Amino acid sequence: MVPHPVLSHRYAQPEERQHYVKNLFDQGATHYDPVVGWGFFGTGNHYRKTAQSRHGLRPGMQVLDVASGTGLVAVAASQVLGGDSTVTCVEPSDGMLAVAKKKLPNARFIQSRAESMPLEDDAYDFLTVGYALRHFADLEATFREFHRVLKPGGHVLIMEATRPAGRIGSALFKLYFGIVYPFFARLLTHSPKAEEMMVYFWETMDTCVRPQAVVSALQAAGFQQARRIPLMGIFSEYAAVKAG
Ligand SMILES: C[S@@+](CC[C@H](N)C(=O)[O-])C[C@H]1O[C@@H](n2cnc3c(N)ncnc32)[C@H](O)[C@@H]1O
Repeated sequence: MVPHPVLSHRYAQPEERQHYVKNLFDQGATHYDPVVGWGFFGTGNHYRKTAQSRHGLRPGMQVLDVASGTGLVAVAASQVLGGDSTVTCVEPSDGMLAVAKKKLPNARFIQSRAESMPLEDDAYDFLTVGYALRHFADLEATFREFHRVLKPGGHVLIMEATRPAGRIGSALFKLYFGIVYPFFARLLTHSPKAEEMMVYFWETMDTCVRPQAVVSALQAAGFQQARRIPLMGIFSEYAAVKAG
């Protein structure tokens, strides 16, 4: 199941999407932290830490942060773990990886897409994804890959922004993420790429499959206890467990 349809004004064919996305994040990488730092309401470092703790992250665990970007989720995980030596980051963009590597000196970095990761079976206790679900080529296939690399009893936590279902909430969400946020991203960074990154963020949220489809894809991939926890009407935590 694709998370959103082809956005033909960005790329013409489905197979060109990854190339477009990689270029976007390669070129926007240096602006990512400053832009995300102010615009995402309460989803900064404190939220990323407490969310992972609430879903079972504990010191001693092997953690895999998929689509790790500049390392915001992995840094929060390392603060819960008490260090970054048991953290592995999977990320395709050179630009995003370069920023993350400076923050996580002892972590392991793998340049790869989520859909097929060069990692062993049954290796991780806790797998996280922060705000990247919309970039995966196929949700079920990617979740099967998550299931493969998790240990029996391992947890997956996917954090995501979700367009509200109601008309007014949806319109306000569009006003903020589609217009206000990209405008300020450009104003503060003077970078057209930072603006495009945020407009694309909005476009993929607007066209993304609804939460029940994500939960169903987790179940179809073999996960148990798949569920969505909505937050503030605009964020989602998708959580599930690999049978022990
Ligand atoms: C919005 S950023 C999120 C970064 C980080 N997880 C965070 O919470 O800030 C999305 C990231 O997904 C990565 N990405 C895009 N396509 C991907 C794929 N197919 N597999 C893994 N990562 C991907 C991008 O390169 C980018 O770093």
